[in-house]
Amino acid sequence: MLERTKSVTQASARSGVPPFMVMDVMAAAARLEAQGRRIVHMEVGQPAAGAPTSSIAAVRDALGEGPHGYTETLGIAPLRRRIAQYYPRSYDIDVDAERVVVTTGSSAGFMLAFLAAFEPGDRVAVPVPGYPPYRHILSALGCEPVLVETDAATRWAITGEMLLAQHRTRPLKGVVVGSPANPTGTMMTQEALAELIACAEDAGIVVISDEIYHGLTYAFAAQSAAALSPKPIIINSFSKYFCMTGWRIGWMVVPPSLLRAVERLQQNFAISVPTLSQIAAEAAFDALDELETIKHGYEENRRILLDGLPRAGLDSFLPVDGAFYLYADTSRFSNDSFDFARRMLEQAGVAATPGIDFDPIHGKNFLRLCYAGSREDMREAVERIGAWLKG
Ligand SMILES: Cc1ncc(COP(=O)(O)O)c(C=O)c1O
Repeated sequence: MLERTKSVTQASARSGVPPFMVMDVMAAAARLEAQGRRIVHMEVGQPAAGAPTSSIAAVRDALGEGPHGYTETLGIAPLRRRIAQYYPRSYDIDVDAERVVVTTGSSAGFMLAFLAAFEPGDRVAVPVPGYPPYRHILSALGCEPVLVETDAATRWAITGEMLLAQHRTRPLKGVVVGSPANPTGTMMTQEALAELIACAEDAGIVVISDEIYHGLTYAFAAQSAAALSPKPIIINSFSKYFCMTGWRIGWMVVPPSLLRAVERLQQNFAISVPTLSQIAAEAAFDALDELETIKHGYEENRRILLDGLPRAGLDSFLPVDGAFYLYADTSRFSNDSFDFARRMLEQAGVAATPGIDFDPIHGKNFLRLCYAGSREDMREAVERIGAWLKG
């Protein structure tokens, strides 16, 4: 009987996606903290700041009002309108609020987009290095992630040429792009994004543009794929610029041809997105000044790292264009970034994420440092890393 129970409750093959190693680093850091060690956290990609004050105030008010039942599946109308109004302000383009879908973070947006646009077995190009859930969600849904290796020659982005080369090998159905990117922090220029979209659309390939780090740019402004074509699926989130990771709220801008499919899927998966999070998100648009101040803090942190890390010995990293990540080449010290990160944590007390999480091919030579913490933490990290590498 026990044997039978075991076999029917076995995990499916599709659930066998790799774990996120950053969680292992976090757990190791927590163990050291429990022993009384002070650890500088640069491993997790989230803002140190909490949700905007306007969001907290709106939720406090709403709590007294209830009931907070389900909402429309696509999101409450005032929030969809505020999101649509953000586009003329940010990119000088109009987006119809009807095309906006509120989601449970961009993570849910990816599931909805992949399910609405792709069939099992479809091949979808993803950049490497890149955010691991792109490929893991695709494989869990039965699609085939096609890892496209990028390097400095193309500012760490997939180009139209690279996409078409893969497409000629075996046809692709989609491509996922993210700019600013995680883990590299690099950005695509507007020309590079436009060229990729044009090539993809000519070949009938659906573009999914992850714009979660928009707003957090230092080298040049990010362009939305929505400004370049009405066809891409845009994924965005309140997690990063808006500092609302735990509220689990994001949005999509969906081409009209996919809108009803996305709605049907979300009706069945989630019914609707948490009501209080939608209220908080709507009010977040009243806090853009506050959010800009937080962004200036990241800019300051970025400067501390750009000045300090080369002196500390970490002098090779990718262009630090946007988001809050610095992707450092550690091959001079080790060709095992997991072991390098483990030793840096234990010996220097600085937690960072091994590149192997993001790049199964070359990630063993890279480390991702998140600079969304405090200024003091950044200064301390530089000092500790310097003393460790020189010691
Ligand atoms: C590139 C990228 N996309 C999407 C996500 C998912 O974010 P969320 O589901 O919180 O919106 C993250 C989170 O770190 C990310 O780095």
